Amino acid sequence: MHIVEATSADTPAALDVERHAFGRDDEATLVAALLRDPTARPCLSLLAWDGGQAVGHALFTHASLTGADPGRGGARGAHQVRAAILAPLAVVPAAQRRGVGRALIEAGAARLAAAGVQLLFVLGDPAYYTRCGFGPALPHGLHAPYPIEPAAAWRVRALAPGVLDAVQGSVACAESMAAPEYWRE
Ligand SMILES: CC(C)(COP(=O)(O)OP(=O)(O)OC[C@H]1O[C@@H](n2cnc3c(N)ncnc32)[C@H](O)[C@@H]1OP(=O)(O)O)[C@@H](O)C(=O)NCCC(=O)NCCS
Repeated sequence: MHIVEATSADTPAALDVERHAFGRDDEATLVAALLRDPTARPCLSLLAWDGGQAVGHALFTHASLTGADPGRGGARGAHQVRAAILAPLAVVPAAQRRGVGRALIEAGAARLAAAGVQLLFVLGDPAYYTRCGFGPALPHGLHAPYPIEPAAAWRVRALAPGVLDAVQGSVACAESMAAPEYWRE
């Protein structure tokens, strides 16, 4: 298995992985929209290949921190921090539970950190994302674009030392993802 940064020529393969992993079109439609969306940039699209087959896809899109968390004294450091959101993460059923999802997360985190991104957010199963280095975001004063139920599904991973103690605020995502239906767990 190897992981590469997807180019526009790889978009059909990425969309196929999304459809196959989720068993529906919604995530593929979102990925196609995000790849066209200027507000999602910089974005990182990673494909995992195994034996000539695309088996996994992860999309990381630009996020920013805005607003304030009055409970913790305002949006400390919000404007300086560089952030990204992982959504969606998809591994085709035949390749699941073999470390592909984790490898995509690690490859993305390494590339984003090298590019200066300090915080990586995700909405998803707390059990899975805890294993992949993400902790709950709300206790750090880091709010999702929409209220999340259960709150523990909104998670963050620090890509730079000390950043979780230095910033807080509300996360703004790309326009294509800024609709309540994308923020339900
Ligand atoms: C969720 C998904 C991305 C996981 O990918 P994967 O390649 O199967 O996961 P990995 O093999 O990298 O698993 C990493 C760890 O999480 C565990 N794990 C895998 N799936 C899990 C699950 N559903 N719940 C809890 N833990 C899980 C693995 O056992 C492994 O732990 P270990 O290293 O301690 O053994 C994949 O199952 C998928 O695409 N599912 C359908 C789409 C989806 O729900 N995507 C996520 C929401 S955006």
